[in-house]
Amino acid sequence: MSTVVIRGGRVIDASGQRRADVAVDTETGRIAAVGPELPERSGERTLDADGCAVTPGLVDLHAHLRQPGQEEAETVETGSRAAALGGYTAVVAMPNTEPPIDGAAVVREVQELGRSALCDVYPAGTITVGRAGERLAPMAEMAALGVRIFTDDGRGVQDARLMRRALEYAAGLEVVLAQHCEDEAVAGGGHMHEGAWSSRLGLPGQPAEAEELMVARDLALARLTGGRIHLQHLSTAGSIDLVRAARAKGLPVTAEATPHHFTLTDASCASYDPVFKVNPPLRPQADVDAVKQGLADGTLDAIATDHAPHAVEGKELPFDQAPPGMLGLETALALAVSELDLALAEILRLLSWRAAAIAGIDREHGGRVEEGRPANLCVIDPAATWVVDPGALASRSRNTPYAGRKLTGRVRHTVLRGEPVVIDGEAQR
Ligand code: DOR
Repeated sequence: MSTVVIRGGRVIDASGQRRADVAVDTETGRIAAVGPELPERSGERTLDADGCAVTPGLVDLHAHLRQPGQEEAETVETGSRAAALGGYTAVVAMPNTEPPIDGAAVVREVQELGRSALCDVYPAGTITVGRAGERLAPMAEMAALGVRIFTDDGRGVQDARLMRRALEYAAGLEVVLAQHCEDEAVAGGGHMHEGAWSSRLGLPGQPAEAEELMVARDLALARLTGGRIHLQHLSTAGSIDLVRAARAKGLPVTAEATPHHFTLTDASCASYDPVFKVNPPLRPQADVDAVKQGLADGTLDAIATDHAPHAVEGKELPFDQAPPGMLGLETALALAVSELDLALAEILRLLSWRAAAIAGIDREHGGRVEEGRPANLCVIDPAATWVVDPGALASRSRNTPYAGRKLTGRVRHTVLRGEPVVIDGEAQR
């Protein structure tokens, strides 16, 4: 039997924390033993976890891997390498590819690409055909292939009647609808948050209400239909208040926030650098504070990256013509450790086991570090500091807004089904 043993770390998982080594059987891809000072095994490969947390691998509910169709920005391979370096063992791949993931053929294509990736890749399907918001996509045929999350991300479903039907359909399939909350009529094509900064910069903005209207509408529709809704990348204090109130009344809604919405404000747009253009847009400090509060009090269930690679040509356009989106997979954990006033276990709940449960993949990811479980693990040095260098990222794109920023918290090793895919911060393939 060939064994990898992660030695000297502190296991942190959904059941708590303890000092323990973790032995992994690379043939079965499962955890073989967990305990303090495990005896040395013949021919073992040791991964040093001194001073580190040993945790279930991170799970991203929201990554754009761009394949098929936009391979100049990212591929499943490059995106999964970025993910593994960021500590992720699973990502949900957004379906706004070209063509979109709106039927069985493209689901199979992405699943096939995922088989050789450095993390598990779970394609999300679209809610509507071509993300056009007019007709429901064949969700049942995609669900039969294992798709558990459906979204038109990049756009919200504008038609409330269609969204009602989608939620009814989803309830029967036991899948989750994830909504990009943006009322396009109210957003009016705005390129940043509508407020003092958009006025000063002379850039058309979109108000917080463009997001909040759809959050309120979808909470009402979830109540009406019993469908499971997950609200993506919430960015305003008002949205988070709406979710908090709905939860208090027992609605089983879930919600995520991105690292950029708890670390950057709309003041960044003063540089007119499109690297700060993203949808939903960066908001004022009061909203950033509300996102942090929502993550701390459990109103927001998960941190999701919205990793949105864009080729250099796109991001070199003027602000109002550049595509929205920023990289996230390689910086999410460190941003959370550096910027959130939360214990590491709380951060890992948001990045790993709670996210795994929402994605419906908690038999494989998240959960507990215990014998017999799939060995999808991440080893984190919470005290290591590093400086973000866009040129050193594994993503095929370079559009990180954090260039030159010093961060605390670094992934040392990532293990995917027993295989060390990252060792000492280096991808192994
Ligand atoms: O900024 C964004 N970029 N927001 C989205 O909703 C879509 C994403 C993309 O695909 O680039």
